[in-house]
Amino acid sequence: MSEQKVRVGLVGVGGVCAAVHYPGYQQIEGVEIVGICEPSDGLRELRQKEWGIEAAYAQIEDLLAEVKPDAVSIATPNVYHQELIYKALDAGCHVICEKPLGMDYAQTQAIYERGKASGLRHMTAFTYRFVPAINYIRHLVQSGELGQIRHARFQRLQDWGERAIGWRQYKDQAGSGELGDMGIHRLDFAEDLLGPIASVCGGAKQLVTRDLTKEGEVCPPQDVEDWIAWIAEFENGATGVFEMGKLTKGFGPGGDHDQAELNGTDASAVYRLHNPHEILFAPRGEAYQVRPVPEEFLKRPGAPRDPAVGDPVVTFRYDQAWEFISAIREERECVPSFYHGMRAQAVADSILEAAAERRWIDIPDCPR
Ligand SMILES: NC(=O)c1ccc[n+]([C@@H]2O[C@H](COP(=O)([O-])OP(=O)(O)OC[C@H]3O[C@@H](n4cnc5c(N)ncnc54)[C@H](O)[C@@H]3O)[C@@H](O)[C@H]2O)c1
Repeated sequence: MSEQKVRVGLVGVGGVCAAVHYPGYQQIEGVEIVGICEPSDGLRELRQKEWGIEAAYAQIEDLLAEVKPDAVSIATPNVYHQELIYKALDAGCHVICEKPLGMDYAQTQAIYERGKASGLRHMTAFTYRFVPAINYIRHLVQSGELGQIRHARFQRLQDWGERAIGWRQYKDQAGSGELGDMGIHRLDFAEDLLGPIASVCGGAKQLVTRDLTKEGEVCPPQDVEDWIAWIAEFENGATGVFEMGKLTKGFGPGGDHDQAELNGTDASAVYRLHNPHEILFAPRGEAYQVRPVPEEFLKRPGAPRDPAVGDPVVTFRYDQAWEFISAIREERECVPSFYHGMRAQAVADSILEAAAERRWIDIPDCPR
């Protein structure tokens, strides 16, 4: 592959930018972080020092005009995604934007149309597509080793306590609660593995107020769901049962739990985030046994990282940057693109509608 130089700007340099985007680009030869944009003075200065970056701005307009990056990574609260994407595309930049791509389905439709019309690369940061165990299970599904998938279970169980969790707890900044935060990833990788969801029914609850900050200061109460569950009928006939919660202690490390199980006519397979280099596998009629993920699925083809280096729960996330940069260099569509961000949001909005109306909802057509 060519090692065409790609000059990247980082927009929003909070948690996920520092944990995933920045280190992902650092791995790739020929990629230069040429500037950052961050409205918080303290954080902007901290990142400048940590990362040794001179060009740092409070506004995206200044980053785009002065540094002229080839591409940007947008990792801000969800409410800002659309306007930042539009500004970056208008300046001729390829864009990777965090999930959820927009605040609702209508907004993600507009974002996808704009991305498609631009002729530039566009990607939604659905990080979990890059988990080695998911890479392997995708292969098992596609090669037919599991047979026909009848049942699938997807769980993201966490216990974040009852104190405030920042912008994520407000509908006007996040769009939705647990669904947009954790559920949207599972919608995306479920459709990646099993194909389109045809219809859903579900339930959602807001259980606590979160009107005290971590430090004990009073703050406005949350107005989004902190638990959500749904049943999905896939077009291929499989049934998926999903549950996500911020007050639902799981049995993984730190009370965390991220699991997906597929039951096929020939065999079953289980993904667990906290053991991303292995799956559980069981032929029909036998008990589950650990199966290591084969070497070829431990990272994306050509990705520069060594899967044996670092914490595997963290490092697979760097393959997302590799996919984005590879698509730019190869002049091909990113996978997952803004299309997938829109598609997952179509299902997400249908789940909220189904929960509110206590009935099954068919997913609208999402033309490419
Ligand atoms: N893909 C994943 O696994 C994953 C994980 C965590 C978060 N996320 C997503 O990433 C995004 C950011 O989440 P986070 O946890 O990093 O949040 P965060 O609050 O830690 O960081 C967001 C940063 O964006 C900055 N910001 C706000 N408005 C801005 C603007 N107009 N221009 C530039 N910067 C701006 C904020 O000051 C803040 O520093 C969200 O969309 C979230 O859903 C994705």
